Amino acid sequence: MALLVKNIKQLVQAETKSVKWRAGKDMQVLPIIENAFLLTEGDKIKDFGPMEELTAAKLSRVKENIEEIDATGRMVFPSFCDSHTHIVYAGSREVEYIDKIKGLSYEEIAKRGGGILNSAQRLHEASEEELFDAAWARLEEMASFGTGGVEIKSGYGLSTEDELKMLRVIRRLKEKSPMTIKANFLGAHAVPLIYKDNPDEYVDLIINEMIPMVASEDLADYIDVFCDKGFFTCEQTERMLMQGIKYGLRPKIHANEMACSGGIQVGVKYNALSVDHLEYTGEEEIAALLGSETMPTILPGAAFFLGMQCAPARRMMEAGLPIALASDFNPGSCPSGNMQLVVAMGSVMYKMLTEEAINATTINTAYALGEHEQLGSITKGKKANFYITKPMDTIYYMSYAFGSNKVDQYFLNGRRC
Ligand code: NIG
Ligand code: FE
Repeated sequence: MALLVKNIKQLVQAETKSVKWRAGKDMQVLPIIENAFLLTEGDKIKDFGPMEELTAAKLSRVKENIEEIDATGRMVFPSFCDSHTHIVYAGSREVEYIDKIKGLSYEEIAKRGGGILNSAQRLHEASEEELFDAAWARLEEMASFGTGGVEIKSGYGLSTEDELKMLRVIRRLKEKSPMTIKANFLGAHAVPLIYKDNPDEYVDLIINEMIPMVASEDLADYIDVFCDKGFFTCEQTERMLMQGIKYGLRPKIHANEMACSGGIQVGVKYNALSVDHLEYTGEEEIAALLGSETMPTILPGAAFFLGMQCAPARRMMEAGLPIALASDFNPGSCPSGNMQLVVAMGSVMYKMLTEEAINATTINTAYALGEHEQLGSITKGKKANFYITKPMDTIYYMSYAFGSNKVDQYFLNGRRC
């Protein structure tokens, strides 16, 4: 099957040659073609350009039937990539959120056995089928808001059996969903209550039992650790990352959400694909990230929902860093996977220009997903994952209309969903 989208008011993030990421001042660069066409064949982008370059010869090279779509007045964007989510979970935690409104901090809730441990208990009681169905519904909603690539973490199992259960659910999601999905093993999300007095024993369990089993079933692409005050120390993180790397799992870690924990430096030291959260980022952290292959990733939804200070996005870009923005969709700190809202929050809370926020949620998150050669821009040969907007005058509407769904139709692997 082939698609021809014609008369596109603006074709956004259209690149002849794909870049790895956009950093610093370049984050303000967003290539746009006015009055454009987009042609796909099978699951790939075949061609694109200004309407006047759409010739009969170009169309005759397509071997399949072509469905034509008129996008007059509308824009086409590459699908969002969401490089940080925890969408496999059982039950929501809105009651606990009311405690938060009454004044308890995230750390206090966690200390009471709430938070992540609360989700772990519920996940333990849920069947694989129930977990799959709930995560599937979340994925479908994310796709309808324009997302086409997702990273999903384990981390609500916190025992070998339940971590494997989560990762098997993620594997089924990978097999069934048209989205590109990456699995991240986050056994080190919290210390289970039974190891409260001896957290190193839990770290040993992750190293000696969980990582080898996860790798032997090929259940994960990445390894994650919540390296932060009150969770795992830098030293514990290093031990787990070393073992993960030995088993072929590249790190993508949670760092500096609660404090200047040293997590960013540990991530860079172990060549993490990304370090995520970053509310506590200072000049030392910025210096560590510069020149590295690690994508600094900010999660605006979590900062918004928990009322945290914002990561210094502008300072980071001024220093020349790239920035990715992901949702962190999870039951405790961000019960939303709406990447359009993430774009708007990027602008409202972090004062990012629309161009910067779009780069941060497409090409830069594609890198943080390990998929920048397949996703994140409208480029020949990349996956045909894109969406057509409702009628819009300018791209700035994406930053501005924070409560509206701007997506009209969305396509994954060249197919309308
Ligand atoms: O990314 N920071 C650590 N983990 C999650 C929260 C998970 C939860 O509260 O259930 C996060 O925000
Ligand atoms: Fe997270």
